[in-house]
Amino acid sequence: MIILVGGEKGGSGKSCIAQNLATYLAVDKVASVLLVDCDIQGTTADWIKLRNNNFNALPIDCVQLNGKIRNQLLGYNSQYQYVIVDCGAQDLLALRSTLSAADVALLPMRPKRRDLKTLVHLDELVNSCKMVNQQLAAHIVFTQCPSQPNQQTRVNDAKQTASLFDIPIADAVLHERHIYDDSEESGLSVLESEPKGKAADELRSLFALVLNNEMENSPEIRMQYA
Ligand SMILES: Nc1ncnc2c1ncn2[C@@H]1O[C@H](COP(=O)(O)OP(=O)(O)OP(=O)(O)O)[C@@H](O)[C@H]1O
Ligand SMILES: [Mg+2]
Repeated sequence: MIILVGGEKGGSGKSCIAQNLATYLAVDKVASVLLVDCDIQGTTADWIKLRNNNFNALPIDCVQLNGKIRNQLLGYNSQYQYVIVDCGAQDLLALRSTLSAADVALLPMRPKRRDLKTLVHLDELVNSCKMVNQQLAAHIVFTQCPSQPNQQTRVNDAKQTASLFDIPIADAVLHERHIYDDSEESGLSVLESEPKGKAADELRSLFALVLNNEMENSPEIRMQYA
């Protein structure tokens, strides 16, 4: 299964979600996972280097790819149960290529005006890719949401704006929490650093929610969990 964690706005949390999803699948679900880093800054590849030098962490495979990567992704998809692609707008070709091959796309977005503005183009991009890749299940994921109750209207307003577009919005949202920054240092995920914390609970709910349907529909993955 190919899963894109992508989008056009910098800093929305793509790499964090891709890394946590990879550990959720590799560690919690004991699946074979490849992380694909399309960012020339190599944030995820650097995190993997730290991780794979940490004896307390299960190593995860990672490759860095750029540009027209559709065929490479399809090749990796036959070798791994999950291929997770971390891709931003600095490599639009890789973003399009991945959307043309992916089963699932998680599109993180902060509940902020500048992030919401990217929805116009993102919606067009997803709709055009769905013409060639009808299996694509895309979800907008609200991230770094303020956790103060008096700020909840910001999240609701952002959801309202996003609902004007075609891409469905994931019910589970991720709040702004320090553990994301703290866990990166040692190549660990939030799920491993603070497994019982609120951030870990939110991530697990999100992953279960967006992956359950696809797992149920995929014969190989159904067998794996049987
Ligand atoms: N839910 C969260 N709460 C608090 N901080 C977060 C959260 N998600 C991400 N961050 C922090 O935001 C910063 C950017 O996150 P990340 O690198 O995952 O974003 P990105 O979308 O991959 O950025 P880029 O566009 O540069 O690739 C990091 O410092 C990360 O620790
Ligand atoms: Mg990134």
